[in-house]
Amino acid sequence: MITLDQIESFNKNGYLVIENYIDQRQRNLLMNRAEELIDEFEPPSSRSVFTTNEQERTSDEYFLSSGDKIRFFFEEKAIDEDGNFTVPKHQSINKIGHAQHVLDPVYKEVIKELNFPELGIQLGIKDPQQLQSMHIFKQPSIGGEVGLHQDSSFLYTTPMSCIGFWVALEDANKENGCLQAITGGHSIPLKKRFKLSSNGGTEFEILDDSPWPDNALDLLEVKAGTLIVLHGQLPHYSSANTSDRSRQAFSLHLIDKNCHYAEDNWLKPLL
Ligand code: FE2
Repeated sequence: MITLDQIESFNKNGYLVIENYIDQRQRNLLMNRAEELIDEFEPPSSRSVFTTNEQERTSDEYFLSSGDKIRFFFEEKAIDEDGNFTVPKHQSINKIGHAQHVLDPVYKEVIKELNFPELGIQLGIKDPQQLQSMHIFKQPSIGGEVGLHQDSSFLYTTPMSCIGFWVALEDANKENGCLQAITGGHSIPLKKRFKLSSNGGTEFEILDDSPWPDNALDLLEVKAGTLIVLHGQLPHYSSANTSDRSRQAFSLHLIDKNCHYAEDNWLKPLL
């Protein structure tokens, strides 16, 4: 349960930081399970890299059909021009997504304990739907930047209802690429939508072409175990990881079932 002050703070800033939301046992369960899944993972010949910076890189079939599966996406720098690994397999993964909250018993159990839907209800979602989950690695030295974006661009409902729950599995700071956000920036209109296009590919539909405000981004440096709740319209960013430590995080997104989930959203979730 969160307090009225915390709800007010979320409504004012567009995010809410809650320390010690997830305990060490739960963090270890998720990180150990991810290790096991990567152990079992046989890299395909076509290696899907994840970045939000270049549209074409998130447009391949392996990514677009991952909404109801557990799939593995590589750090851009983990694959060279010839498609060969530059690092061992366990250090090559950018993230695992997007349906482990439904398909994997360990993730499922820990996520149940964390009870994000209850928090979602307190923050205004009437009928919460867990839509996607991601285990994010931000690998040492090669962990990629994630450009400034609003999550509702990728998980669009009418009216908008997306809320992101981002849990630090390890300490996150400037050096290893913690989250950064425009405090109060959730009042900025949604800039664009990432959606399926009529030719079977994907496209960004521009909804508001005004530039991002000049506000400096605030660093959200947090200790392992901290939850950051992100409003779907909050512009946020994370830099590349230039340190020698990973910055693992787990995230889950909720929408409101009472809102219309756009048919042309890229994510086809397992409900
Ligand atoms: Fe995001």
